[in-house]
Amino acid sequence: MSALGKVAVLGAGNIGGSLAQRLAELDIAREVVLLDIVDGLPQGKALDIQESGPILGFSTRVTGSTSLDALAGADVVVETAGLARKPGMSRSDLLEKNAAIVRGHAEAVRAHAPNAVVVVVTNPVDVMTYYFRKVSGLPPARVFGESGTLDAGRFRSFVAEALHVAPRDVTAFVLGTHGDTMVPILSLSSVSGVPLAKLLPPDRLAAIVERTKQGGGEIVNLLKTGSAFYAPTASQAELVLAIAQDAHRLLPVAAHLNGEFGEKDVYVGVPVVLGRQGVERVVEVDLSPAERSAFAQSVAAVRSDLEILAKAPG
Ligand code: LAC
Repeated sequence: MSALGKVAVLGAGNIGGSLAQRLAELDIAREVVLLDIVDGLPQGKALDIQESGPILGFSTRVTGSTSLDALAGADVVVETAGLARKPGMSRSDLLEKNAAIVRGHAEAVRAHAPNAVVVVVTNPVDVMTYYFRKVSGLPPARVFGESGTLDAGRFRSFVAEALHVAPRDVTAFVLGTHGDTMVPILSLSSVSGVPLAKLLPPDRLAAIVERTKQGGGEIVNLLKTGSAFYAPTASQAELVLAIAQDAHRLLPVAAHLNGEFGEKDVYVGVPVVLGRQGVERVVEVDLSPAERSAFAQSVAAVRSDLEILAKAPG
């Protein structure tokens, strides 16, 4: 028996297609359905992935559809739809166009999959997660956004490269918004428990922090026609797996805050415990004064986008 019945992936672009592939290969759901408005795209990618099943040994059925009715009864929905950045754009430049897409999908989830756990990926992700939650009316614990696991993945990869250690032994937390004001938390980052400050000089660490903050942009500038999808979908698959296995993993995601970290009525990256019902709890950690002020700045950037969205027509 698969752990999950249906996982719906909204958007069959680079992210949606790659995520559907990863989820199928994990073999954790009876069905993965890929949805997009471009006829043929979700069906074609789904069929292509499905045909890899006999070779790779997974049983998940992979289907594609242009109809949001195909969401019906989904246990997990991953919202990937929306425009991606081009060189020179910030994630916030996508705000209004992506909000219109997210709105329709959140309404469809409310109608067809009200019991789903929703992972939002569409940028600017903290704001889109807030908006998806609001429009869908789902409980805040069942809607969260992917950000910190991706940003920490980048950070961990750069540290592993600098130290010649196994990437998986590097643990890290990147909190705050998935944007220019994200906050890598060095005091919570280590190699198997050995603090990074004992392993790398401050200037090397500072350079890694800076490269992490610009990590999404670095890929956009290289690809020129789109943004990253391999590391993002690895991170999304990790989150869906935690839900499927009811794993109670402690991971950073964009979660709803109701007083935690001194903030209310906002979504931003914080450590949470993640299981079958979504966010089980937010884990408050002590931040240094500098980290606290960087976190506050990060939250302010999210709130400023939320205000722009609230004033937008429609
Ligand atoms: C990135 C985009 C997907 O960080 O936000 O690569």
